[in-house]
Amino acid sequence: MLIRVEIPVDAAGIDALLRKAFGRDDEADLVQQLREDGLLTLGIVATDDEGGVVGYAAFSPVDVAGVDRQWVGLAPLAVDASLRRQGLGEKLVYEGLDALNEFSYAAVVVLGDPAYYGRFGFKTAAQYHLHCRWPGAEAAFQVYPLAESALNEVSGLVEYSAPFNRF
Ligand SMILES: CC(C)(COP(=O)(O)OP(=O)(O)OC[C@H]1O[C@@H](n2cnc3c(N)ncnc32)[C@H](O)[C@@H]1OP(=O)(O)O)[C@@H](O)C(=O)NCCC(=O)NCCS
Repeated sequence: MLIRVEIPVDAAGIDALLRKAFGRDDEADLVQQLREDGLLTLGIVATDDEGGVVGYAAFSPVDVAGVDRQWVGLAPLAVDASLRRQGLGEKLVYEGLDALNEFSYAAVVVLGDPAYYGRFGFKTAAQYHLHCRWPGAEAAFQVYPLAESALNEVSGLVEYSAPFNRF
């Protein structure tokens, strides 16, 4: 198993993995649109011995209260069903956080299960007066500061890019 940054030749494998892992087209279509619009800040793939894509994490830009603060959103995250619960998801997330930290991004947000993302250090965004536009998402919307000062004097609506409007 190899965990690495996405390259153009991975696109078809990522597409197939996302359609299978989520059992619908929305996430695969989202990633295609992000890629087309130049909004894929970072993609991390897990590949098997044949080079097939078996895991994927995407990061794309978000605004905070209308301002670009070098924050990104993690979405989607997926691992092939036959390879789950072996720590692959964890490796994809850590690899992504490491690379983003290296590139000096300031923070990462995610909408997901706090029991899962809490282990990486994601915190409920609401405690920093940050929210997203999806109703009822307060407990699931989380933030991970990469820069020490990222959460200082920042609050308000965290807005994902236009391709997320499908959700
Ligand atoms: C969410 C998802 C990406 C997690 O991938 P994964 O590779 O299974 O993730 P991990 O192995 O890092 O951790 C998953 C769970 O397995 C557990 N686990 C990790 N290694 C394990 C091991 N060796 N043995 C047993 N359990 C293990 C973790 O503790 C975690 O448990 P919990 O979530 O029940 O508390 C995967 O389930 C998936 O693709 N789901 C469908 C798409 C989806 O819903 N994505 C999330 C959108 S926010």
